[in-house]
Amino acid sequence: MSAQWVVEQPIETERLRLRPHRMSDVDDLLRFHSDPEVVRYLPWPVRDRAAVLETLAVKVGQRRAERPGDWLVLAIELRADAQHPAAADRDRVIGEVLIKRAGEHEPADETELGFAIARDAWGGGLAGEAARAMLGLAADWGLDSAVAVVAPGNEGSRRLVAKLGFEPDGTVVRRGVDLLRFRREL
Ligand SMILES: CC(C)(COP(=O)(O)OP(=O)(O)OC[C@H]1O[C@@H](n2cnc3c(N)ncnc32)[C@H](O)[C@@H]1OP(=O)(O)O)[C@@H](O)C(=O)NCCC(=O)NCCS
Repeated sequence: MSAQWVVEQPIETERLRLRPHRMSDVDDLLRFHSDPEVVRYLPWPVRDRAAVLETLAVKVGQRRAERPGDWLVLAIELRADAQHPAAADRDRVIGEVLIKRAGEHEPADETELGFAIARDAWGGGLAGEAARAMLGLAADWGLDSAVAVVAPGNEGSRRLVAKLGFEPDGTVVRRGVDLLRFRREL
């Protein structure tokens, strides 16, 4: 079992590489952080380059979630050799996947998975591929289950979590809005 809450090395999947962010990812991130369709159901605003740089600075090099409540966010790189229409002539960051530790005052089994993918890379199974890798890592860490929290109108995310084997597990209120919680054993 790898050490809990630490990503020792990049995680390779069939088409992707999940790895810590770099400052040079800024333009790839801007492409989807500035897209209103991508952030529609996310708790972030549409971002300009300055805002992306500011948030990126916090994520750069991040490999662990040290304390309860911490987020660990990895860049999802689509490898140049991937069989996918969005693959470019270089490895490109097409999304982010994250895992959030339960907060100090939350039940310990509220480890949460989250994901965002650039719009030109939707619909090709890439979010599912990244999420499965992240769930595998959480299982290696010895976690028993994970949750995903989805806005009711977010059809893409609902379909995705269902395909990943998550099942409905009540609701959560965030910023005054009722969201759907899903849970999966690891
Ligand atoms: C949700 C999201 C991550 C899905 O990414 P993706 O790479 O397209 O997902 P996948 O290709 O692995 O799709 C999984 C399933 O969801 C379906 N799906 C994806 N987007 C969909 C949409 N907008 N409407 C309906 N179904 C959708 C896919 O067709 C697939 O099902 P299928 O194989 O039965 O056809 C992506 O749309 C996204 O980044 N959205 C904005 C950010 C966001 O809302 N994140 C989730 C927060 S909880």
